[in-house]
Amino acid sequence: MRFFLDTANRGDIAQAHQWGLIDGVTTNPSLLAKEGGDWRAVAREICDLVEGPVSLEVIATETEAMIAEARDLVKIAPNVVVKIPMTLPGLQAVRDLAAQEIPTNVTLVFSPAQALLAAKAGASYISPFVGRLDDIGHNGMDIVAQILEIFQNYNFQAEVLVASVRHSNHVLEAAQLGADIVTLPMAVLKKLAGHPLTDQGLEKFLADWKTLDSSTS
Ligand code: E4P
Repeated sequence: MRFFLDTANRGDIAQAHQWGLIDGVTTNPSLLAKEGGDWRAVAREICDLVEGPVSLEVIATETEAMIAEARDLVKIAPNVVVKIPMTLPGLQAVRDLAAQEIPTNVTLVFSPAQALLAAKAGASYISPFVGRLDDIGHNGMDIVAQILEIFQNYNFQAEVLVASVRHSNHVLEAAQLGADIVTLPMAVLKKLAGHPLTDQGLEKFLADWKTLDSSTS
């Protein structure tokens, strides 16, 4: 399973990359707006920080404008993947971009039917938003299970990129289901690594070690 970091924060991306834990990055307009400054320069820096795919989202909502924007975004770096919203004009853009061998990540997917359409359109990645579904009382992970089953039935090439991740269990459930990728916020990545028994155990080992008579070594 691959891990992407869901942020536009260059400090966090550099840190997670240094740990060797991330295979790519996903951004969205809200995440880039949070960083401020020149978004294109920020995007370029992010693409330089990681070798793997970096999703950058179009702002246009009409097919031709999305395609034009996508063609401009991929000039930023060779590892750019164009994020396209799950709309009918978006699907049309995905088909056209696939024909031009421009990779796409269909975002804002909330149902297996939407994922099926996006896969048929030729998307490279499909992003079901599990946390936002949980927020409205649905079970986001059920959608992921259904999407994976459908993709297996028809051997679709699109990869399932679990997004809108809120906690460690989302990551574990996605892994148990066999999702290709999970994109997670830095806070969730850190939480995955920690356990109170690890901290307590380490503290005890180090305290015991200090009781050794140093003259014997
Ligand atoms: C991923 O591609 C999305 O940008 C992101 O996961 C959305 O997460 P949110 O629901 O926490 O905003």
